Amino acid sequence: MSAKIKKIGVMTSGGDAPGMNAAIRSVVRTCAYHNIECVGIYRGYQGLIEGEMKELNARSVRNIINRGGTILKSARSKEFRTKEGRQKAHENLVKNDIEALVLIGGDGTFTGGMIFNEEFGYPVIGIPGTIDNDIYGTMSTLGYDTALNTVVEAIDRIRDTASSHDRLFFVEVMGRDAGHIALNVGVGAGAEEILIPEENLGLERLLESLEHSRTTGKTSSIVVVAEGDKSGKNVFELAEYVEENLPNYDIRVSVLGHMQRGGSPSCYDRVLASRMGVKAVETLLEGKSNYMVGVIKDEIILTPLDLAVKGKSEIDKELIRVSEIMST
Ligand code: F6P
Repeated sequence: MSAKIKKIGVMTSGGDAPGMNAAIRSVVRTCAYHNIECVGIYRGYQGLIEGEMKELNARSVRNIINRGGTILKSARSKEFRTKEGRQKAHENLVKNDIEALVLIGGDGTFTGGMIFNEEFGYPVIGIPGTIDNDIYGTMSTLGYDTALNTVVEAIDRIRDTASSHDRLFFVEVMGRDAGHIALNVGVGAGAEEILIPEENLGLERLLESLEHSRTTGKTSSIVVVAEGDKSGKNVFELAEYVEENLPNYDIRVSVLGHMQRGGSPSCYDRVLASRMGVKAVETLLEGKSNYMVGVIKDEIILTPLDLAVKGKSEIDKELIRVSEIMST
């Protein structure tokens, strides 16, 4: 391996996700292993523009593998969307002798990295970090597995109270425009119905299904609603609509919100982050750039960044069928 690059920068950008710290640790330690310097850039692209950075060594990243959030902090930068902002960011990198960047984030982060690469020929590698799992080129993004476990645990608790009071709960989960979280936790937590943006069930079907459940002896139910669902109603309006049409149900709504993004990463996310960090640094050292590191069938692979941004991450259609059978 020819270590032409002497100094790499690492940053987290966009929504934080559990496993980002484990990825930072991996990038820093892989740099140390290959005897190259590593610089942590704070608050994503905004920190890059403002020159907020610090040298990190193997010891700087101790005791963070188990921590949620990101020690480098994160931000969504408006200034980086301007040519002047990117110019300032590039000047800071040159001034600090940072020759390549590892970007940990979602598609917004990667789009920024691609433009930066186009404009300055600057080497970048992406690591997908978002709970939404909405990135093409990887079966799992960092934080997704942890979020699934967090949400399943939350819904289990809601089930306790739903069952004690014979209630129907509508639980809204995150995922932006994707239904991965909703579909998987819906199956994992035994939901009666799962509403996701990729498959519009229709309100009539929802009523029929809930009425059928009641007449077949179910006294409590959980409906998981993805925040991006396309029913045309938000979770509160959905609950009202069902209440008006099925007055026998006692209904409550629970919006899980940002608690889904927090917490200690699962073992799966920590291992994935460690593997992705190694691959990201070693890919740069091989002289390659403009790729995203992903995992497909447990193999760590590279996907061109533009494909990762433009491609669509598909939901598992078989899970929809499994969910239908399970709610019989
Ligand atoms: O992309 C992660 C995510 O948590 C989405 O699931 C959600 O739609 C969005 O970020 C919320 O963003 P913010 O934290 O800026 O409100």
